[in-house]
Order: sequence, then structure tokens, then C-alpha cells
Amino acid sequence: MSSTERRLSTTVLVIGTGGSGLRAAIELAERGVDVIAVGKRPRLDAHTSLAAGGINAALGTMDPADSWQQHAADTIRESYLLAHPHTVEVVARGAEEGIRDLERYGMTFARESDGRISQRFFGAHTWRRTAFAGDYTGLEIQRTLVARAEQLRVRIVDGIHITRLLVADNTVFGAYGFDVADGTRYLVHADAVILAAGGHNRIWRRTSSRRDENTGDSFRLAVDAGARLRDAELVQFHPSGILQPENAAGTLVSEAARGEGGILRNGLGERFMQRYDPDRMELSTRDRVALAAYTEITEGRGTENGGVWLDVSHLPRETIMQRLPRVYQTMMELQMLDITRDPIEIAPTAHYSMGGVWVRPEDHGTDVDGLYAVGEAASGLHGANRLGGNSLIELLVYGRIVGRAAADWSASLTAQRRSPAAVSGARAEVDALLDSDGTENVRALQRAIRDTMTEHAGVVRHETGLAAGLDDIAEISERLEHIGIHPDIAGYQDLAHAFDLKASLVAARATLESARERRETRGCHNRSDHPDLDPSLQVNLVWSPSSGVVHEGIPPVPAEISALIGDVSTTGKLVE
Ligand code: FUM
Repeated sequence: MSSTERRLSTTVLVIGTGGSGLRAAIELAERGVDVIAVGKRPRLDAHTSLAAGGINAALGTMDPADSWQQHAADTIRESYLLAHPHTVEVVARGAEEGIRDLERYGMTFARESDGRISQRFFGAHTWRRTAFAGDYTGLEIQRTLVARAEQLRVRIVDGIHITRLLVADNTVFGAYGFDVADGTRYLVHADAVILAAGGHNRIWRRTSSRRDENTGDSFRLAVDAGARLRDAELVQFHPSGILQPENAAGTLVSEAARGEGGILRNGLGERFMQRYDPDRMELSTRDRVALAAYTEITEGRGTENGGVWLDVSHLPRETIMQRLPRVYQTMMELQMLDITRDPIEIAPTAHYSMGGVWVRPEDHGTDVDGLYAVGEAASGLHGANRLGGNSLIELLVYGRIVGRAAADWSASLTAQRRSPAAVSGARAEVDALLDSDGTENVRALQRAIRDTMTEHAGVVRHETGLAAGLDDIAEISERLEHIGIHPDIAGYQDLAHAFDLKASLVAARATLESARERRETRGCHNRSDHPDLDPSLQVNLVWSPSSGVVHEGIPPVPAEISALIGDVSTTGKLVE
């Protein structure tokens, strides 16, 4: 086994090679700034490639009355007023440029016969503003960004697990990590670091993420470096994750299925959205549809296997094959189910971290100088309920902005910081794990976290469960001291799982502590012991291990946007 340590240096290090990381790297490369992007997964298989149904921008190609202001208003209304107005404005205003960037890089969008980009409805949007490429939108974006980055000769290193950010005097100067295949260590010096390593929804049992993604890496790396997290409790449960097979439970059936006319029914055959949101029905907000499905299931009106039905079989076959090809293929592959004939059995699945690392709205800088966070790693845009399609546009808009900000930060430096103590601390952490030979298994502990979060911090939460969850997390943290790590001929996956586990523990604690503090029901966060929205909690919850949860006020919404918001209604929220 290798004990080599490779040293690299660059102007900006990007951690994560999904859409946000690559967009930032492209911005840097286009400006002639040296950049290295590292990712855990092969670049073409980063998590962005799973994003399905679409990307939002008020292009007005289908509904000319749409505007960036209305996009902003919809985003803020559906966030239950927890989105940061400035962040929302930046994304809604910059969205069209984000789409034009993708077109410039060669992205293929679905188009109308006259060449206009097609746009479809996604839940809770006032107008059709979700552009798409079948239901492979994320995959097409990822391919496009990889191609552009490679064309610009961005150095992308796959299979690298970053274990620690290197910081001196509250200023980042690089990162430490290892190659998951052969254990080679990496010491990367950089003037600035962009954290684009995703969120934490893999810490639930049923999730739309795969095994080693979204394990909370960004949260741990940022917190260990001295940054804070915001709204960790606000996790979006998507209504439609598949139930079987067990090892793929939670795999997403895109909202596009409902956008194209799919119908939801309970185990009794009733079109249950009638009870929760009779006007918008299946195109209601994600939090409502997820809670409605959850309620049907827990009140005994679900299917035999504990789900509800999503049916697209009444749609023309051509619509399914052209606009929902991935759902069709996925269901054939995983269940040999033909969706042109039969309904799909689904239940809510942990899908997206709407909170994340605390960042400034203007440049996504964190509390640590030179450290930026972007995409699902960051926070501010989504509040308590994300509009489907907003995450992909966020990557494009803020990827561009953080790339510029990191370049400017580097240009402003008069000296490069180093800290031998920080580097030896990072080395020692990996050494200690490699030396560990206890009897606790990292995979079993990861499973224990997922069980705890599923039981105590799912779609509906309450004080007793959240407190019990925190006790479980404390116990799992104690068991972490007794793990055994055994890299073998196949590679260093065991070591990677150990770091994933550490990250998940930080993410779980932040989530549970913040969820306890949010004693109300708002958007995705349903408290059965506090079923109403509490206006005094129209704040963000900012967390760090040392200061716990602190309330942060949200600035007022500019008049041109607030005029379009309308009521923030809680109708359809039937938490018992
Ligand atoms: O259902 C979906 O296609 C998911 C889209 C999103 O989360 O933005």
C-alpha cells in the first residue's frame, strides 16, 4: 500500500466536480486563473448527473408574462419567507445568463418546433419556466460542463477524498486528502478554496442520493475550518422516491412526471391531493405533496408496501418516451415495470439540503477568509421549501459568481499563508484512522445514523424524537472511537467511509439541534408538537458546534418582488 504524499499547488482549489464546482472552475479558467478541481466520484457521474426534470429561468418562451421578479417572488413565497431576498434576486436576475452560458457551451435543450427553448410546469411556479432535456437535464448539464472544462484544460482529479481544509489565522490555504483507489495522500496548497461537495441527504435511509454522495462532507469540512452552518434542519423530502428494490429505495421519480400530467392515488384509489390542495392538486408544492403522501401512508390509506401510486399510464406513450425517458428506463431496469401501463409505487425520499454552509449573499464567501461554498453545500436560496428546478440554476449563477470572487481574493493577497501545524494535524488524522483496529464497523455505524434520522427527523418531527435522536448520535460518536479501518487490495474505501461517517455525524447533530430549536411547522419542517407557523421564527438558524443554534434575522424583500408574492398560505398542512 502506498504512503506517498503528492504536493500540488494552484491559485484556486475546487472541492467537488458536480455542476457548481465545474461552473466555478470554468469561470476561473476563462479568466486565466489556475484551478484544480477534485471530486470523490468520476466527473461524469457526479451527483448533478442525477438531477432530472429541469432548470428554471424566466425566459418567457412559453408564457411571455413571466419575469425575473415573478420567479423571485415564487421562490420567496415557497421558501415560507426564509430565503435571503438578496440571494434570490441574484439567482432570478442571473438565471437567463446561466441558460445562455449553457447554450454557449453547447448544451442541448428540449425545443419547440420553431426553435424556442421549451419550458414546462414544475410544482408551485406561477408560469412554465422549467427548461429541460427530457428528464436527463442534470446529466446533460454535467456533460456540457465537463466538456467545456476539458476544452479549457481545467485540471480535474477524480477519486480524491478531501479530509480537511488547511487554515491558518482564519484564512484557508489549501486542503488535505487521499486517493480512494491507492491511498496516495494529497497536500494541495491554494490561495482560495471553493467548497462544492454537496449536502447531507444521504444520512436518511430512503434518499435520492447514492451510497457515498451527500454524506455531509461540506458541513464537516466547513465547520472544522471555523465556518458555520445555516438551516441544517431544512431538508426537502421529495414526494416520489421508489420503494423497491431495497438497495435503490428512494431513487427519484422526477417531478416532471407530475408536471406532464401524472396523477397521485392512495391505496384506496382516491386522488388524495383533492384533500390537501384542490386547486393545484399534483402540482402543489413539494412540502405539501410529500406531507400529503406521508399522511395517507401513516393513516392507513397507503399501498400494501407503505407507499402511494403515481400514475402516468394515461399519458400518450410518445409523451412518456420523449419527456420522461429516464423514469421509463429506471422503472424497467429496477422493477421491470412498464409505466406506460402500470402505476409506480412511491413514498417521500430525502432529496435536498436547503440549508448548508453559511455564506454571504453577494459572493458566497464564508466565515473563513478565502473559503467559498456553492451549490447544495451553500445556503440562502431555498428557505423551508425549494422550488423544483431552482437548484440547477443556482449552480450556474453562483458558480460564475464564486469563481470571480475567488479570483479576486487571490489577486488581493500580498503573501501566501502556510501552517506546518495545520498540515501535520491533517496528516495525523488520516494516520490515526489507518492505525485503528477496533471492532466497530463504519458501514454499520452509517446505517445506525440513517436509522436514527429516519425515525426521529423525517417528514414529521417532535421534541421527544429529536431529543432521542441526539442521544443516539452521541452514542454513535462514542462508538466511532472503536472503529477498525482496513484498506485492502480493492482500495481505501474503508477510509473514505470513515470520513463520510465523521461528516454525517456533524450533519446529523446540526440537523437535530436546529430542528429542535425550530418549534413550529414551516415548509418541509413539520413539528407534530408545534403544528402552526410561528411568525417569531421567521429567521434563519445558524449553527456551530461551539455556539449551538443562533437566530439570524432576514432582510426585507424589495418592493418590486414583495408586490408579487401574495399570501404565504399554510393550507394543506395537515400535521396531526
Ligand atoms: O423531480 C425532479 O426532477 C427534481 C428536480 C429538482 O429537485 O430540482
